Amino acid sequence: MEEKRFVDPNAMQTPEEAIEKSLRPQRLAQYIGQETVKEQLAIYIKAAQAREEALDHVLLFGPPGLGKTTMAFVIANELEVNLRQTSGPAIEKPGDLVAVLNELEAGDVLFIDEIHRLPRVAEELLYSAMEDFYVDIMVGQGESAHPVHFPLPPFTLIGATTRAGMLSEPLRARFGIINHMEYYTNDELQEVVKRSAEIFNVEIEESGAFEIARRSRGTPRIANRLLKRVRDFAQIKSDGVIRQKQADEALTMLQVDRMGLDYVDQKLIRTLIKMYQGGPVGIGVLAVNISEDRETVEDMYEPYLIQIGFIRRTLRGREATAAAYQHFGYER
Ligand code: ADE
Repeated sequence: MEEKRFVDPNAMQTPEEAIEKSLRPQRLAQYIGQETVKEQLAIYIKAAQAREEALDHVLLFGPPGLGKTTMAFVIANELEVNLRQTSGPAIEKPGDLVAVLNELEAGDVLFIDEIHRLPRVAEELLYSAMEDFYVDIMVGQGESAHPVHFPLPPFTLIGATTRAGMLSEPLRARFGIINHMEYYTNDELQEVVKRSAEIFNVEIEESGAFEIARRSRGTPRIANRLLKRVRDFAQIKSDGVIRQKQADEALTMLQVDRMGLDYVDQKLIRTLIKMYQGGPVGIGVLAVNISEDRETVEDMYEPYLIQIGFIRRTLRGREATAAAYQHFGYER
């Protein structure tokens, strides 16, 4: 048999990604938070296993850093199947997708991150792949071009996207399981921080873990990143133990404020209040003013600021709320 070659576009990883991987829980029981998602998936996984079928296709949506990729790996581990990983931007032409589909074995998970960024032609191939496990592809060029029917083993597609609204209706309709990932509570993030500290072998007090947790914008990826910076701080400025004091001082130095808002969050709200009298102003205009791209503001910054009640979306644009004025010390 021909040797299987799978070019994983995510194989090249940054040090940050490598560390994030080492922190990843492997099983549902180790996964902190997202209780509703876990409870539902546990049932669907068990049922699919009992029927010896592939799990229905799963769509995970929610802001970046909440553990969508981690959840996909956990699902594959629970199912005891292989996971193949790619992403919307990595698939440039239908052939790229066919190459990945070609690697699947019965029951495997195919994880497509940023699935809303798949090119339209590739997305259309997915319809029959998801629904009836085949693709029809054109082979050859010019006169000799002909369609080839290509059967696939039953598999589970797990798609991740920041906003479900960005998916086309035909694609969204083909997911049997659709789950929204929520921001984590402070208590959940405190558990994540303690778990990670243990993996890093760094001593941390409850108060230190809580301080990091409550300043992490409800996001484990941020909590883990801040933990590393606080660890450095505690190591150099004191005895290496992370207490509330070290966490507070390190985070203040990092310009993470008492609400956990970072430099960009702060700039965004201040711009909205000072330059636009609190709005309403269009998201694109706001993004240009703080030198971020619109998509980053929409996916990463705005959802949390809406969640904590600092920004309101209106038909005419974004507005700063009374709570935002108060937090930043401005008069209305
Ligand atoms: N590390 C990052 N996210 C996590 C989670 N949800 N549960 C456990 N550990 C994590």
